Amino acid sequence: MASSADVQRGLQDVVALESRLCFIDGKLGRLIYQGYDIRDLAERSTFEEVAYLLWYGKLPTGPELSDLTSRLGALRTLPPALAEMIDRFPADANPMDVLRCAVSALGLYEPAETQPGPHAISGALRLTATMPSILGQFHRRRKGLPPLKPRPDLSHAAYLIYALLDRVPTGPETRAMDVDLILHADHELNASTFAARVTASTLSDLYSAVTSAVGALKGPLHGGAAERVVDLLQVIRTPDRAAEVVHSKLVRHERIMGFGHRVYKVEDPRATILREWSRRLGEAKGDLHYYELLRKLEEVVHREKGLYPNVDLYSGSVYALFGIPTDLFTPIFAVSRVTGWTAHVLEEYEDLRLIRPMAKYVGTVDLPYVPIGQRT
Ligand code: CMC
Repeated sequence: MASSADVQRGLQDVVALESRLCFIDGKLGRLIYQGYDIRDLAERSTFEEVAYLLWYGKLPTGPELSDLTSRLGALRTLPPALAEMIDRFPADANPMDVLRCAVSALGLYEPAETQPGPHAISGALRLTATMPSILGQFHRRRKGLPPLKPRPDLSHAAYLIYALLDRVPTGPETRAMDVDLILHADHELNASTFAARVTASTLSDLYSAVTSAVGALKGPLHGGAAERVVDLLQVIRTPDRAAEVVHSKLVRHERIMGFGHRVYKVEDPRATILREWSRRLGEAKGDLHYYELLRKLEEVVHREKGLYPNVDLYSGSVYALFGIPTDLFTPIFAVSRVTGWTAHVLEEYEDLRLIRPMAKYVGTVDLPYVPIGQRT
C-alpha cells in the first residue's frame, strides 16, 4: 500500500513520462515546442507550420508546408451523416458537448485511421481540419442558418473565423487568430493532454483519446477559464469597479479566472504575447474596453493575491473583439490544442507504456459480509 508521503495530490510535480514535444520552464516563464521558443513561433511562423512541427518534429520546408495546407483544406468537408447528426443536436447544447460528440462520431467514419500506430497521423489531420467545420455548422444551425461550403483556400485561422462568422477576416484579424492558435497548440502534460495520453496508453484509438481530451478541456479550471473571464469583465464593467468585484470574490474564496498556473511561477509567456495582441486588435477596432479592464484586473489581482495572468486571461478579449459568442471560446482552444493532443497520442503510440498510477487506500478493510436481508 502507498504511504501517505507517496501521495502527490493532483499529480503535482510528478514526472510521468518523457516527451520531445513541449517544455515549460515555470520559473523563467518560457515555453518551447520541439526546441523552438513560443515567442519566435508566435512572431514568425503560422499555425500550420506549428502543427507540422508538433506532428513531424521539425519545421516544414516550403513544399512540405504547401502540402500540409492543401491536405488540411481538402479535409474540411464533414461526412454527410455527421453533418446531419449535428443538425439534430439540441440547438441549446453546449458547443463543447457538441464537439465531444462530433469528434467521437467522426471516428465511426474513419475506421482505418482508428487503429493505434503511426498512420493515425491521417486522423490527426482530419480532426484538425474538421473542427472549425463542426463548430461552424452547429453555430449556424442554432441561429437557423444553412451550413456554409468549406473554403479550402483559406488558412486555418481565417477558415475558423469564416466558419463561425461567415466573413473572410482582414489580414490583421487573421494574424491575431493565427497567433492565438499557435499559443494554444500544446502545453506539455496539461489535464486534457494527459487524458488523451492515458486513453492512448491502453492502445485505444486516436478518436477515443481526443474525445477524452475534449471532455477534460471543458472544465473551468482548464480550457473553460476564458469564458469565465469575459463573464467577470461584464460584472466589473468599468476599471474603477475591479478592486471591489475582485475583493468580493476573494472573501468568498472564489477563484479569479485567467490567473494562476500549476507550472508557471511567473507570468505565462502566452499571456504576455496575447496581452499585446489584445491591445493591437482593440486599437485596430477602436475598442480598448476589454483591454483596459484586463489591465486593471491584472493590477488588482497581483496586488491582492500575488497571482500572474495565464493564457486564458487575454484570449477571451481577442475572441470577443471578433464578435465570437462566449460559449465558443473553449471550443476554439480545442481547435488549436487538437494538434498537441494528437502529437502526444502519436508519441504515446511510439513508446507505449500503460499509464496506471496507484491510489492510497483510505477506506476500511476486513468488514464482515452482511447478507442483504440483514442489512439496516
Ligand atoms: N484565484 C484565486 N486564488 C487562486 C487562483 C485564482 N485564479 N489560483 C490559485 N489560487 C490560490 C488558491 O486558492 C490557493 O490558495 P490557498 O493556498 O490560500 O488555498 C493557492 O493559490 C494555490 O492554488 P492551487 O489550486 O493549489 O494551485 P493549482 O496549481 O492547483 O492551480 C489553477 C492551478 C490553474 C487550477 C488555479 O490557478 C486556478 O484555479 N486558476 C483559475 C482557473 C484558470 O484560469 N485556469 C486556466 C489555466 S491556464 C490554461 C489551461 O491550462 O487550461
